[in-house]
Amino acid sequence: MERDDINTLIQKTEKWILPELNSIFDRRESEDVTVKAALYSLLAGGKRLRPLMMHLTSSMLGIEKDDDVKYFAATLEMLHTYSLIHDDLPALDNDELRRGKPTCHMVYGEGIAVLAGDLLLNKAMERMFLICESKPGYIYAASAMAENAGIRGMLGGQSIDIASEDKEISLTLLKELQEKKTGAFIEAAVVTPYYLSKEMTRKESAADETAKDLRKLASHIGLAFQIKDDILDVTSNSEILGKSTGKDERDSKATFVTHLGLLGATKRLEEEVKCIKVIINRFKEQGFNTDNYETLTDFLINRDR
Ligand code: IPE
Ligand code: IPE
Ligand code: MG
Ligand code: MG
Ligand code: MG
Repeated sequence: MERDDINTLIQKTEKWILPELNSIFDRRESEDVTVKAALYSLLAGGKRLRPLMMHLTSSMLGIEKDDDVKYFAATLEMLHTYSLIHDDLPALDNDELRRGKPTCHMVYGEGIAVLAGDLLLNKAMERMFLICESKPGYIYAASAMAENAGIRGMLGGQSIDIASEDKEISLTLLKELQEKKTGAFIEAAVVTPYYLSKEMTRKESAADETAKDLRKLASHIGLAFQIKDDILDVTSNSEILGKSTGKDERDSKATFVTHLGLLGATKRLEEEVKCIKVIINRFKEQGFNTDNYETLTDFLINRDR
């Protein structure tokens, strides 16, 4: 099989996930302004990296539950988009550009943008309950994803992020911040297809060696991804990135760049990528096709968006 480059992988993922995203709200719901605002942000594009990672885990491990993986991938993209809508609000990062377009609150106003985020979070939970009604074996996968969005995950990271503005924080706390705000959703992306395939329980997932390796892989990908996000905030420009730049310094944010400098952050990124490669190799040695995960790893270093 020919190896795809990252742009092909991103395009294929968009094509895979788009019908699912378009089917989330029915026609009547879609007349509501909050639904319109949520769809505005959800369908604005973005790299779809979390759905892409779900697809990568599925194809690497030969998981055949494509429809269910896609269902969870769309649900995770909803949670991620909710986090972005709220992250951009004036009360948080106060950003005007996202995914190459004006942010949700710039178009629909702050009140509706708050609700649009809430709606995506709530609808994501509804979807997970709904699929568990017919497939109760998915309960742990769903509950782990809810945790990844909550105080032990993305939300907890955002909380430390906001509380750390204008402060010097330790490298340990910075790492925790990043692992939660970005790493938690990446963990959900990397491990959920495996949990689904085995209809895994919490206890089984804690003991399973493959699950442990996937979580480790996700943790290094998450850090590498956020370190690069911090670097791009300094080195890139808004046309390429699709969001404004220079804002971490503007807001005195705790990031790997403000902490270690550009050079230090780049070194740390390279260390994370080395760890990623070691884990990917372990999968390769077990006979799994890791080509696409290798392509993603290169993108983590070289990406400009
Ligand atoms: C942006 O994530 C927020 C972070 C966690 C750094 P992405 O860079 O994946 O954003 P989209 O989905 O492509 O817009
Ligand atoms: C936010 O991190 C991550 C989220 C949970 C949304 P950032 O604030 O650095 O993300 P960008 O740079 O605005 O995309
Ligand atoms: Mg932020
Ligand atoms: Mg932000
Ligand atoms: Mg950022």
